Amino acid sequence: MSATNPIREWTRQSYRTLPAEQQPDWPDRERLEEVLAELRTLPPLVFAGEIRALHSQLADAARGKAFLLQGGDCAEEFRDCNANSIKARIKVIMQMAVVLAYAGEKPVIKVGRIAGQFAKPRSSKTETINGLEMPSYRGDAVNSPLPDPKERVPDPGRLLRMYHASTATLNIIRAFMKGGYSSLQRVHSWNNDFVLNSPQSKRYEDVARAIDKTLKFMEVIGLDPELPQIHQTNLFTSHEALLLDYEAALTRQDSTQSGWYDCSAHFLWIGDRTRQLNGAHVEFLRGVLNPIGVKVGPGHKIDEMLRLIEILNPENQWGRLTLITRFGAENVEKYLPGLIRAVQAAGLRVLWSCDPMHGNTYTTPQKYKTRSFDDILTEVHRFFEVHWAEGTVPGGVHFELTGDDVTECTGGGHQINEADLAHNYLTACDPRLNANQSLEMAFQIAEMLHNRSDSAPTIPATHAD
Ligand code: PEP
Ligand code: CO
Repeated sequence: MSATNPIREWTRQSYRTLPAEQQPDWPDRERLEEVLAELRTLPPLVFAGEIRALHSQLADAARGKAFLLQGGDCAEEFRDCNANSIKARIKVIMQMAVVLAYAGEKPVIKVGRIAGQFAKPRSSKTETINGLEMPSYRGDAVNSPLPDPKERVPDPGRLLRMYHASTATLNIIRAFMKGGYSSLQRVHSWNNDFVLNSPQSKRYEDVARAIDKTLKFMEVIGLDPELPQIHQTNLFTSHEALLLDYEAALTRQDSTQSGWYDCSAHFLWIGDRTRQLNGAHVEFLRGVLNPIGVKVGPGHKIDEMLRLIEILNPENQWGRLTLITRFGAENVEKYLPGLIRAVQAAGLRVLWSCDPMHGNTYTTPQKYKTRSFDDILTEVHRFFEVHWAEGTVPGGVHFELTGDDVTECTGGGHQINEADLAHNYLTACDPRLNANQSLEMAFQIAEMLHNRSDSAPTIPATHAD
């Protein structure tokens, strides 16, 4: 065994002995322990059987038989835990998935950054607003975004609010997915009011009409439109597993089979800032059976990544581990081929997904953090091209987006420019694609997938097992 091999026994608490980056300095430890004790008694948010279903679908995506669409807020906020906001986010993901599935001719696995994405890693512990230094905002799970030092004090009671906001959000998601609203017979009704008069909307209506026609034909030949495949769907949940005490409190042993599942969400990922080989985040996540992701930015070292993959996926299972690369449009060709080759040479099985958001952020002279639609699209495009050239599978994409008419990213069909950002800049953290830009992105990616499926086999020979 090498020096970094995990020889310690994993328990729900074993992460506690290791250094944990990005944890809040909770001033009231006693209250924290009370909150954690309460969280340990509350019901799980998701169930082991659902988590296993996602694992198996991700195994398909890793081998080119399905495609992962992961997206949602950079940081969810308690104030957006209302029916309209949640529905708008769900609808845009559903629309994107329909477009991708229709053109890409593969099942699309929908995973939201939703129902738990309330905690944020920050580059700096403090920030200065209007000349006043205060602790950085770490997500609604920890403190308030209001620019007031008192509001920025980490409050453990917020972990309970996070749990309850996640529960309420999941409740709407489940109703939406199983209650008929997500039926393919209702694709037209997912069209968002504010997208309605855009060119994307017209393209979307074309896809929706084609789906209607197919469904009518199926009915004519005697297939039941109430089939669950038509009438129901799934939106899995995911967030960054940042606050380890919260994640551990929601980690439960499966009642039907042995093994531990983090029941705060179906899919958890480790951020680019918290993936240290001997750190607490890696220790915690190696022991839960959820499918997990790791963000990989330009600062990675290849040998460390290989070691990390072995620690997190010791049985080398398809679907267990997703590498979410986020290099920036200009850096994809510099970093991705080397990483792919090393992973392939070591025979490691991963699902490759592209986060084209976090490597493309910049700040305008007016101090708005933004990203341009074209840079985002370029990163996705290069991600696909590199994988195809290497003979590996570009199996998914990961976006920060919202269903609302925000002006946070520049570009797209409505040509938002830097001066427009002030109109409706609402994010508590990073800039998101609005509904229009998201749908446009889906059409662009669908086109790439479609052109490829015309010209190449879906699964390269090396991935055929
Ligand atoms: C994020 O996904 O919101 C995030 C902080 O990403 P990364 O860890 O890649 O910087
Ligand atoms: Co972000």
